[in-house]
Amino acid sequence: VISRVVAREIIDSRGNPTVEVDVELRDGSLGRAAVPSGASTGAREAVELRDGDPTRFHGKGVRRAVDAVNERIADAVTGLDAEDQAAVDATMTELDGTDTKSNLGANAILGVSLATAKAAATAHRLPLYRYVGGVDARLLPVPMMNIVNGGAHADNPLDFQEFMIAPIGAGSFAEAVRMGSEVFHTLRRSLLAAGHSVNVGDEGGFAPDLRTAEEALEFVVRAVEETGYKPGTDITLVMDPATSEFFRDGVYDYTGEGVRRTPAEHADYLAELVDRYPVASIEDPMAEDDHEGWRDLTARLGDRCQLTGDDVFCTNETLLRAGIRDGIANSILVKVNQIGTLTETLATVTAAHRAGYTVVMSHRSGETEDTTIADLAVATGCGQIKTGSLSRSDRTAKYNQLVRIEEELGDRARYAGREALGLRR
Ligand code: PGA
Ligand code: ZN
Repeated sequence: VISRVVAREIIDSRGNPTVEVDVELRDGSLGRAAVPSGASTGAREAVELRDGDPTRFHGKGVRRAVDAVNERIADAVTGLDAEDQAAVDATMTELDGTDTKSNLGANAILGVSLATAKAAATAHRLPLYRYVGGVDARLLPVPMMNIVNGGAHADNPLDFQEFMIAPIGAGSFAEAVRMGSEVFHTLRRSLLAAGHSVNVGDEGGFAPDLRTAEEALEFVVRAVEETGYKPGTDITLVMDPATSEFFRDGVYDYTGEGVRRTPAEHADYLAELVDRYPVASIEDPMAEDDHEGWRDLTARLGDRCQLTGDDVFCTNETLLRAGIRDGIANSILVKVNQIGTLTETLATVTAAHRAGYTVVMSHRSGETEDTTIADLAVATGCGQIKTGSLSRSDRTAKYNQLVRIEEELGDRARYAGREALGLRR
């Protein structure tokens, strides 16, 4: 039974304030959760409440969300059974009363939602992944490691936001981390040798002064090979061009590269990249408002490439169902703060799996030391996680948590491997 709920303003990986919540149960069990924050957000995400007071944190303070927890949500959920996650979450969404959680703030609600689950897990003396996922929660996800950053996450000219490596051929999660780390360091050396900066972007990947996706993909493929791995077999490539960020007036405006592509030309370009490079998965290949482009691309590439909807679905079950009906994407990115409660997040994952869509658990570009999503990836058995590069503790904290979970599961642990992406080639 929930006895105490306290929120505070802490600092995230970009140095911006965010919400942290402690939930305490009557037996003394404590759960703590910190809320992440995106930069390239989808238009239909649940609302992250910011104060807009220019005298604090350049307007980015989250005191209103903190107050919403301490003054309103705390009263409403105190006395509720922490094990009844659905009731706790429903109490908050009803108290909020809006479709987008704009009243209390999704950042307020999510903090309480996740901290409640963690407190309940503690009370049961269970790790979070087993409390949420049950006895069969033992599938370790393939990590999608974002080793080249561009777009809204770096100040280089790269139009595409993320270039990732996924060690599908690893025998275990720990081995996947080792492979990723080795490639990360090979890439560092080759970027330096070519005269590029090896400073990193928001998600810990390098942010070199490259202009085109081809240049980035060449560097990554060569780094995989030079490290001694086979591209496409041991390690496959994944991109998140985050196209909603550069879709303007019906065209894809590649400002870094200095070209504009119509939706058809943009689709041709993506298809060409998939033909030329071992790219097994593309997230947000089309913009959130370009439904026609999404449908056409899914029909064209969907049988040989995982096409993951981030901005187009916003972890929202209703948006996902509409997309399934319309033939949009074959995979969904899941970000807990896009929807704002654990209950709704799990419902979206279930709906995706029922429709044969793959699921990728994901961080945000603004993160904290909180590792909840690592446990949720195992709890849902989704088989894939995207949580940044092999540097910056806000990113590696999640990978390290998965290493611990794998160790704890011992012989029962299974590594998702290439099947997780629904790969057919
Ligand atoms: P965001 O980026 O957290 O800035 O939205 C991550 C993504 O687009 O997947
Ligand atoms: Zn994305």
